[in-house]
Amino acid sequence: MSDDALIAIKPSIASTAKVTAETRAAMVARAKSDPDGFWRDEAKRIAWMKAPTKIKNTSFTGDVSIKWFEDGELNASVSCLDRHLEAGRGNQVAIIWEGDDPNSDSKVTYAELHEQVCRIANAMRALGVKKGDRVCIYLPMIVEAAVAMLACARIGAVHSIVFGGFSPDSLSSRIQDSECKILLTADEGRRGGRKVPLKVNADEALKVCPSIEHVLVVRNTGADVAMQAGRDIWWHEAAAAQPATCAPERMNAEDPLFILYTSGSTGKPKGVLHTTGGYMVWASFTHELVFDYRPGEIYWCTADVGWVTGHTYIVYGPLANGATTLMFEGVPNYPDFGRMWQVVDKHQVNIFYTAPTAIRALMREGEGPVKKHSRKSLRVMGSVGEPINPEAWLWYYRVVGEERCPIVDTWWQTETGGILISPLPGAVAQKPGSATLPLPGVQPALVDGEGKFLEGATEGNLVITDSWPGQMRTVYGDHPRFIQTYFSTFPGLYFTGDGARRDEDGYYWITGRVDDVINVAGHRMGTAEVESALVAHPKVAEAAVVGMPHELKGQGIYCYVTLNAGEEPSDALKKELVAWVRKEIGPIATPDAIQWAPGLPKTRSGKIMRRILRKIAANETDQLGDTSTLADPAVVTDLVENRVQ
Ligand code: PRX
Repeated sequence: MSDDALIAIKPSIASTAKVTAETRAAMVARAKSDPDGFWRDEAKRIAWMKAPTKIKNTSFTGDVSIKWFEDGELNASVSCLDRHLEAGRGNQVAIIWEGDDPNSDSKVTYAELHEQVCRIANAMRALGVKKGDRVCIYLPMIVEAAVAMLACARIGAVHSIVFGGFSPDSLSSRIQDSECKILLTADEGRRGGRKVPLKVNADEALKVCPSIEHVLVVRNTGADVAMQAGRDIWWHEAAAAQPATCAPERMNAEDPLFILYTSGSTGKPKGVLHTTGGYMVWASFTHELVFDYRPGEIYWCTADVGWVTGHTYIVYGPLANGATTLMFEGVPNYPDFGRMWQVVDKHQVNIFYTAPTAIRALMREGEGPVKKHSRKSLRVMGSVGEPINPEAWLWYYRVVGEERCPIVDTWWQTETGGILISPLPGAVAQKPGSATLPLPGVQPALVDGEGKFLEGATEGNLVITDSWPGQMRTVYGDHPRFIQTYFSTFPGLYFTGDGARRDEDGYYWITGRVDDVINVAGHRMGTAEVESALVAHPKVAEAAVVGMPHELKGQGIYCYVTLNAGEEPSDALKKELVAWVRKEIGPIATPDAIQWAPGLPKTRSGKIMRRILRKIAANETDQLGDTSTLADPAVVTDLVENRVQ
């Protein structure tokens, strides 16, 4: 099959989908010609306490100001809960929870979820949490994570979720940056048959977090954990002491809903801030369109709530749309490589959304574990987080979906709040490996290094020329950094940090990051973060980190390390450095290769030439390009000869 082969829209889907090729074209046209009218109508999909009359007020120049629905008032938890109860759907299952252990699962109805949310919302209010206060959530994939998010939304507190795989250091720096008032965590988490010591990590982190006044602790595994008197409170005791209803806080559309830290090319992770009205409209709009979601369907996104995918497509989007959303605590290969499909059959999942790294890992095990399960319930399947190679796409399409299920390859970012570029199952023909076309209301473009617009079939830097409701509003506490990071490279345009190709049909093919961000198994990481972890080790003088191609993870972490004078390189020290980085950042940052570098290739002004380091890591040493501007070209010879195989 050629690279650009089209896979046609399924007639069975085209005839029943809410959005067809014709309706999509009409939506695209209206969103462009009459954005206020288009988004005023789309905003009706969520519940407002006061409907907005002002719709779009955005500027990508000067101080960069992004406001949507700015005089509207609402509470996100009401859209996700109360209105479904009012519509008589209280007994419908809101969340199916599937444990790490295949024998453990549970179901929570909308009415039950509403009650749990209200109790925890009241408990937080009783602890002094007020509108605008920040609350840190460090929980495993259990129902309480969704409860925690919605409870924050209910009282107007801004949640900041930290992925359970992050280290105490990563947790404390995020808590400190946004000065969170309370922390919601659990005794332990479970993953792939192992326990994750969340409370132990939290206690370690909190030694340097004076802003935290209380910790609510979910009893999850029942592990014996230390509870600090006056500070730590059991979640179930706090919930039981509270009434089952809670008046929702009245929020302005532009009041913050959450902060989520994400990595960039430089410095510490940034607190990406999303607000209430625009984000909720975007979450609902994209979840319905992209997955062609239909009432009554079972929807499963395999992400973790610690990432933006979990925020938008496990919790806010599906619950706003009244879906039944599946939350999975486990991993794709435990207890065996058929787990995903076993869960699909067990809960009769209709829509399935996962990451290319998982697809590649399962593909390597062959068709056997897939074929052991029926998968007949599946109707639409999605991919997110990194470029999906056509081979993995086709395996997903043919083997898992048996050519019955359209694949939606969804491109977006923490900053975008939700999906921006993706096929719509009933409206856009697919091409394996392409995220295809923008959603209505999204205006991507490609520019060259100077910011000049490139037309037609071409390749360049991916920018978005105008705002959409789900866009991030600022970097928490650092608006200048927001402008600098996203609007200064190409003034007046939102720069995504990604490169892309556009083909003759106008389809986008994301080629990956063009900055110093790497994407390891769908986890976004700044090479600068790994470098600063390495140089914090007492024996390390200097470090340079680049991404390298990795068969399963997409990219692996390749580290060049220069030791302090007098330190001897050894395998034992390599192991020590790997363990060090895991401890500093978390297991997702585990280096894949460490190369001892007596020197690093630098320009005469001292700038590390990463282009050369990337080529060596990728074993493309015949393409090093011009090395004549280096201060000492001989270091390159040494690095090439001692490349880690
Ligand atoms: O490089 C793109 C890649 O993931 C980056 C965003 O990472 P993050 O903020 O962690 O959000 C991940 C979940 C949305 C992007 O800049 N990326 C995401 N989806 C795709 C992708 N690359 C190619 N194809 C995708 N579908």
